[in-house]
Amino acid sequence: MTFSERVFNTGIVPVVVLNNVEDAVPLANALLKGGIDFMEITFRTECAAECIAKISKEVPEVVVGAGTVLNVEQAKLAVENGAKFIVSPGLDEETVTWAIGNNIPVIPGCVTPTEIMKAISLGLKVVKFFPADVYGGIKAIKALSAPFGQIKFLPTGGVSEANLKDFIENKSVAAIGGSWVCKKDDIANHDWDKITTLSENAVKIIKETRT
Ligand code: 3PG
Repeated sequence: MTFSERVFNTGIVPVVVLNNVEDAVPLANALLKGGIDFMEITFRTECAAECIAKISKEVPEVVVGAGTVLNVEQAKLAVENGAKFIVSPGLDEETVTWAIGNNIPVIPGCVTPTEIMKAISLGLKVVKFFPADVYGGIKAIKALSAPFGQIKFLPTGGVSEANLKDFIENKSVAAIGGSWVCKKDDIANHDWDKITTLSENAVKIIKETRT
């Protein structure tokens, strides 16, 4: 199965912010128990690379990637620590080219036709659409998918249990991303059962919408 097929199958890429390395493995297990085998650990905290390394070693069933990757140095660090894919809020050509050259799936953020055309010219088929709620949500994705039928989107930013169905039912959406399944407070409180429940709810909606 290709990376794109795997992302599509799971349908959701949780956006994770971790402040403590000790939380990485319990969180990965909580998501996995809820049916989610994808995680994007954001480079917004110091321990991101270490968290990726721990999950990739100790919970190999989870496809762990790096998010909020702003430059090629962070991309290299992430991959050295076991990241299986790279997500960026915007498109940094050097990072995308490096990732492609090293066979690492890369999903840069693109919200305008010009940015999407840049992604296509670099050979990409999946782009992040962020912040989805601010840039027109599903309405914008529908409009963009007319000229860019070959592109699949990963909308994130304002996606939640309440609106994920609207995104997932569109054929141009590869998967949705978001932080609501593993909120900062739930991680801080080690409320792994809640994270599992929120994951199960999301997976259920995705499955029901796609059948
Ligand atoms: C991201 O990086 O994709 C966003 O921070 C996720 O947005 P959300 O917190 O609204 O889900």
